Amino acid sequence: MSYVNLTNISLQEIPKICDPEGRGNLSVIEKDVLPFDIKRVYYLYDVPSDSCRGGHAHKELQQFLIALSGSFDVVLDNGKHRRTITLNRPNKGLLIPCGVWRELENFSAGSVCLSLVSEVYQEEDYIRDYDVFRSVVGA
Ligand code: TYD
Repeated sequence: MSYVNLTNISLQEIPKICDPEGRGNLSVIEKDVLPFDIKRVYYLYDVPSDSCRGGHAHKELQQFLIALSGSFDVVLDNGKHRRTITLNRPNKGLLIPCGVWRELENFSAGSVCLSLVSEVYQEEDYIRDYDVFRSVVGA
């Protein structure tokens, strides 16, 4: 697992189709939006505003997060630097490569975090100890 430069991580536009008759928006994620094939989809909801999710890194898994509703903050950490990115639009996504420690916090009431991921669930892919993470990335 190599060191990830956090400045290369940014919100990505998801194509949006605005209805010409004002019936609302439609966003679509096709192959060209993501650099991986989706193997799993899961979502977080009913998250209390004072709760923190995440608190781990992945060895192989890549992940694309979208605030389908409401907002939340994603704190990214490469072992040396931290950066917080707010997700609050359903047509913006955040691609998190492997090797990045993440924490999700400040969930607004009713928010929904959709997660599209590159791997099936495997606990062995997680690093849940921050000190272990730091030593693995050589920080
Ligand atoms: P975890 O990935 O730690 O959640 P978060 O990062 O959002 O805080 O997962 C929480 C629990 O759910 C953990 O016991 C593993 C389990 N889980 C599954 O069984 N399958 C899954 O696809 C996911 C994402 C988690």
